Amino acid sequence: MNRIKPAEPLPIVAMRNAGKSYGKGAGVVHALRGVSTTIKPGEFVALCGPSGSGKSTLLNLMGGIDYPTEGDVFLMGQSLAALNDAQTATLRANAIGFVFQFFNLLPVLSVFDNVYYPLMLNGYSRKVARDQVMEIIEKVGLSNHYRRQPGELSGGQQQRVAIARALVKRPALIVADEPTGNLDSQTGQEIIELLLTMNDEFRTTFVISTHSLQLRKMAKRVLDIEDGRLIND
Ligand SMILES: Nc1ncnc2c1ncn2[C@@H]1O[C@H](COP(=O)(O)OP(=O)(O)O)[C@@H](O)[C@H]1O
Ligand SMILES: [Mg+2]
Repeated sequence: MNRIKPAEPLPIVAMRNAGKSYGKGAGVVHALRGVSTTIKPGEFVALCGPSGSGKSTLLNLMGGIDYPTEGDVFLMGQSLAALNDAQTATLRANAIGFVFQFFNLLPVLSVFDNVYYPLMLNGYSRKVARDQVMEIIEKVGLSNHYRRQPGELSGGQQQRVAIARALVKRPALIVADEPTGNLDSQTGQEIIELLLTMNDEFRTTFVISTHSLQLRKMAKRVLDIEDGRLIND
């Protein structure tokens, strides 16, 4: 009798020989080549490599911001090749959050409204969204600052707002592109600890590009990238 293996949970990201090149002919740049990897639910992965090694390109594929030019990328089991732009946008809106090096907050909006923004785009009124927004603002430690604007906050606090904004929809995956790259090491350490706490508490999957040795040490899994290839997992 055949033994039936227990079902594996669907990977959050699966890449099969994925590549990405920019331009054509003599000027072509192979930003990524032959990348095969799987990210499972709840993982906390650091993506490490020098400038220009392909970290942002890889994160853009994992976040459904960009399409591969070779191979396959599956997000929550769905092939990017089989989705049109509108379907990819829906997948992103429902399942993926983003955090960037320079925070990318809306400067004229309050902390509350920056965090509410993704819910607004999904059609929630401020009133309906209020508890959900305030809960996540509290989780990132900014309850006392929810009326402020980003310009009135420190860099670390602004990154906390960006993390709250990424988390407010409880996405399956958060992709963070050098989230500590613009912070001093103490503040960077606090941000890494916050991300780890959110990973534990919400089981959110994180993939985080970084030059930080602290993050490399604290991550549960490390991917090293060089010249567009994964060289170590
Ligand atoms: N839009 C683009 N057009 C052309 N080349 C690009 C583009 N984006 C990235 N590249 C090139 O792809 C390579 C990888 O870039 P990137 O993914 O930004 O690396 P990293 O984030 O590790 O610094 C680099 O050689 C970069 O110059
Ligand atoms: Mg980059």
